Amino acid sequence: MSWALTPLTEEQKAIQAVAGEFATTEIAPYTEQWDRDAHFEPSLVGKLGALGFLGMLLPEQFDGLGLDTLTYVVALEELAIVDASVAVMVSVHNSLPTQMILRWGSEKQKECFLKPMARGELLGAFALSEPDAGSDAASLRTQAVRDGSDWILNGTKAWVSSGAKGEVIMVMARTDNPEDRRGPRGISAFIVTPDLPGFSVGKKEDKMGLRASPTVSLHFSDMRVPGDRLLGQVGSGFLYAMQSLDNGRLGIAAQAVGIAEAALRAAAAYAAERKQFGKPIKEFQAIQFRLADMATRVASSRALLHLAATAKDRGERITQFSSMAKLQASETAMWVTTQAIQIFGGYGYVKDYPVERLFRDAKVTEIYEGTSEIQRIVIARELYSRT
Ligand code: CAA
Repeated sequence: MSWALTPLTEEQKAIQAVAGEFATTEIAPYTEQWDRDAHFEPSLVGKLGALGFLGMLLPEQFDGLGLDTLTYVVALEELAIVDASVAVMVSVHNSLPTQMILRWGSEKQKECFLKPMARGELLGAFALSEPDAGSDAASLRTQAVRDGSDWILNGTKAWVSSGAKGEVIMVMARTDNPEDRRGPRGISAFIVTPDLPGFSVGKKEDKMGLRASPTVSLHFSDMRVPGDRLLGQVGSGFLYAMQSLDNGRLGIAAQAVGIAEAALRAAAAYAAERKQFGKPIKEFQAIQFRLADMATRVASSRALLHLAATAKDRGERITQFSSMAKLQASETAMWVTTQAIQIFGGYGYVKDYPVERLFRDAKVTEIYEGTSEIQRIVIARELYSRT
C-alpha cells in the first residue's frame, strides 16, 4: 500500500485497502494474459460497480460512494499499480462522462444514466479526438444538424478508450453552421448510446501498451440523436470537455503514479535478489543512486497529485494544478520504468518480468488527455491568467 501526503482518514484507508485487495485478487492473476491477448475482461465492469468503484465521485442519491477527490486518486493508484488498463477505464468513466452528466445534465438525464453507471450496468466513454483533431481539439469536424427535435450526427471519433464497450459515450460535435464557424463556441456535447441508428464501432487499435483497454474509432452515419440527449447548452460542449479534463488529468496522473510505483517496487525487489560480482546488485552505489532517484520522483509526483486533489476538494480551480500533476507523473512514469528496465538488464527487455509491460503502459500517459506539450501550454497560459 502506498503512502499519502497528508495522513489518510480511516475511511480513506479503508477504500485504499479495498482497491488494493481487489486489484491483487481479481486482476493481478490475469494482468499478463490480458496484456498479451489484448483482452478486455467484461466481468470487471460489474465487479467494480458492485464495489462502488464506478461511482466513486457520484453522490449517494445516484448510488455513488460520494468520495472526495483525494480518496478517488488513491484508489486509482492502487488499481494502476496492478493493471494500468483497468485504471484508465475506471478513470475515464468516473472523471468524464459521469461527472459531465452530474454537473450539466438535466434531471431526466441524471435519473436515466447515473445510477446504472454507478452500479456498473453502463460503462462510460468520452469521444473528443478525431483523426485530424488531436491536440487542436477545437478543430473537430463531427457535425450535428437539427432535424425537428432531434439531431443528426455525422463524423468519426478516434482513440476512444473503452469505446467498443462504452454504453454511455459523451460525444463532442459541431453544432455551428459551416458558413459561420464559431471555433470552440460552436461545439456541443451529446450523450450517445450504441443503440442509436447510424452508430458503429470502427477499427480496434493494436497498441504498444494498455493493451487490455480497448481503444477504437467510432463512426456516426446520419445517426439520429433525440433532442433530450443534448448535454446542457448548445455551444458549451468544448467548455464542458475542457473543464472535465481538469478532473480527467488527475485520474491519468494517478494512473501514472501507480505505474511508476509498480516499476520502483519491482526494481527494488529484483536488485535485492540479483547477484553479480558476488553480491546483490542493490549493494552497488550505481543501483542505489538509481533507486533513490526513482523513489524521489515517485514521491514528488504523488505529492503534487495529492495536493491537486485536495485543492479540488477545497473547491479551487485546478486547471494548472491538474496539468502539472499529469505532466510530472507521466514523465516520471516514463523515466522510472526506463530506469527499472536498466536495473533488470536483459531480463527487463523481455516479457518474463512486469517492467517491460510497465514501460509500454507508461508511454501513453504522456500522450492522452493532452500530450505533455499541451500540459505545458496550459500551465504557461495559467501563469498569465492569474495576474
Ligand atoms: N476550464 C474552463 N474553461 C476552459 C478551460 C478549462 N480548463 N480550457 C479552456 N477553456 C475555455 C477558454 O477559456 C475559452 O473560453 P472563451 O471562449 O470564453 O474564451 C474556451 O474554453 C476555448 O479555450 P482555448 O481558447 O484555450 O482553446 P484552444 O483551441 O486554444 O485549445 C487546448 C486549448 C488547451 C490546447 C485544448 O485544445 C486542449 O486541451 N487540447 C488537448 C486535447 C485533449 O486533452 N484531448 C484529450 C482527448 S480525451 C482522452 O484522451 C480520453 C481518453 O480516452 C483517455
